[in-house]
Amino acid sequence: MADCATLHTGQKMPLLGLGTWKSAPGQVKEAVKHSLGAGYRHIDCAAVYDNEAEIGEAFQELVGDGKAIKREDLFVTSKLWNTKHHPEDVEPALRKSLQDLKLEYLDLYLIHWPLAFQRAEVDFPRDADGKVLYDYTDYKETWKAMEKLVEKGLVRAVGLSNFNSRQVDDVISIATVKPAVLQVECHPYLAQHELLAHCKARGIVLTGYSPLGSPDRMWKHPEEPVLLEEPDVKSLAEKYGKSPAQILIRWQVQRGVVCIPKSVTPSRIDQNFQVFDFSLTEDEMKQIGSLNKNWRYIVPVITVDGQIVPRDAGHPFYPFHDSF
Ligand code: A2P
Repeated sequence: MADCATLHTGQKMPLLGLGTWKSAPGQVKEAVKHSLGAGYRHIDCAAVYDNEAEIGEAFQELVGDGKAIKREDLFVTSKLWNTKHHPEDVEPALRKSLQDLKLEYLDLYLIHWPLAFQRAEVDFPRDADGKVLYDYTDYKETWKAMEKLVEKGLVRAVGLSNFNSRQVDDVISIATVKPAVLQVECHPYLAQHELLAHCKARGIVLTGYSPLGSPDRMWKHPEEPVLLEEPDVKSLAEKYGKSPAQILIRWQVQRGVVCIPKSVTPSRIDQNFQVFDFSLTEDEMKQIGSLNKNWRYIVPVITVDGQIVPRDAGHPFYPFHDSF
């Protein structure tokens, strides 16, 4: 098994996982099967990615008694969507993910965002003007319902995603079951140095999403920097005979950040896993860390009347206005 982080629960979480956001149905099953064949033992999922049923087909073929991989050797994460924050909706939402993924338990279940949308069966309930309908359920109430899932044995650990440092502490202040993981956007341009230190001090493991800068996003800022083209990263890639993607992934796992690059391309899935056969020097780790420019690629937007507008920024629990 590849190198692991240890959660406060004692669970081993592989430092490298396969991301599945934007992996289309029709592609994601093969991608997951390929990754499992290549040695990945950690798959990162979410209900809102709309592909869990297909990922479940891959698990059904390869994971479980008498199959290639034992269930206990695989680490599966999923996430509670924003329309399911009402405490009564948490367990049914988890059960839907389990049913789709064809699993009896999850290793980790995260609250996907601190902010809620109105209770609905659609993922993005909207008003007549096309704006997303917010709901103001406190994430601390949602957390209490998440804790019950651990007590029932339906999930091994619970955690947070896209919460800022203040919100993490807010949850800890009422938690009986402490968050095990915080998943946030993280790469050299958004290095999250303070948030990583904040989490480490509280025994929380950080997972970084969009570690390659999410080049396949629908919407891009015209002036945004391109991470895979970063000269410092490219020159290190040349030095080590690796690709820029491998340097970006190595930097994360070497500083203990769990990394979940997404790919549906077999050769890239293989390549992204080949990061445990070299290491960066301390100076090189610092050099990459100093590329930080607090650049956030992932800022939720939505299309209203053909215009791209912020989706969540008007919500009082929006995480990116204050705090790191
Ligand atoms: P694809 O899925 O077509 O292989 P992120 O994890 O930051 O969201 O980035 C995912 C994007 O990066 C996808 O477009 C994926 O393409 C691409 N990608 C994944 N691995 C590599 C790699 N090793 N080299 C270049 N691009 C990659």
